[in-house]
Amino acid sequence: MAVFNSNIVIRVARLSVLALSVVFMGSLAAQTSEELIAERIKPVGEVCVAGESCARGGAAPMAAAGAAASGEFNVEQTYQQNCNVCHASGMAGAPKLDDAAEWQARLADKGMETLVANAINGINAMPAKGMCMTCSDENIAELVEYISGQGQ
Ligand code: HEC
Repeated sequence: MAVFNSNIVIRVARLSVLALSVVFMGSLAAQTSEELIAERIKPVGEVCVAGESCARGGAAPMAAAGAAASGEFNVEQTYQQNCNVCHASGMAGAPKLDDAAEWQARLADKGMETLVANAINGINAMPAKGMCMTCSDENIAELVEYISGQGQ
């Protein structure tokens, strides 16, 4: 009986420690993601105002249409126009173009297919298709290979 009882006590104690840490980590996560969102919204807003590649910018659709009309998809050029603004500086937590270790970690963790899908659909502060509205899914796949150092 005594053994049985102390077993239960230990289990209950373990469970409540577990529950407490889950709650604690949950609130930590909530807090950091709120802070992150606040931090991320700002630079993204600035990009749309100042950058020529903003999808809703007046001049951008015309420039993009011109690129599409020429029929050429140039990975490096498209990267410069659409991705570099965030991925050169690591803005809002974007993995940097030249950060091979970071890309290796993401590739090992998620795999190329998921990285491409996330680039197409957007993830956290990463906008869908990196705001390249003229890019096809295949274009994005090429860009992801380029940006993650897997191209060529
Ligand atoms: C407005 C800024 C911004 C632009 C523009 C942008 N990205 Fe990103 N990107 C991010 C951020 C921030 C992340 C990190 C998201 C995360 O993991 O939380 C990211 C992550 C990624 C990832 C990794 C996704 C994953 O699942 O780990 C890929 C791939 C990527 N971007 C590709 C691109 C490509 C290709 C372009 C251009 C067509 C582009 N990005 C344009 C901000 C941007």
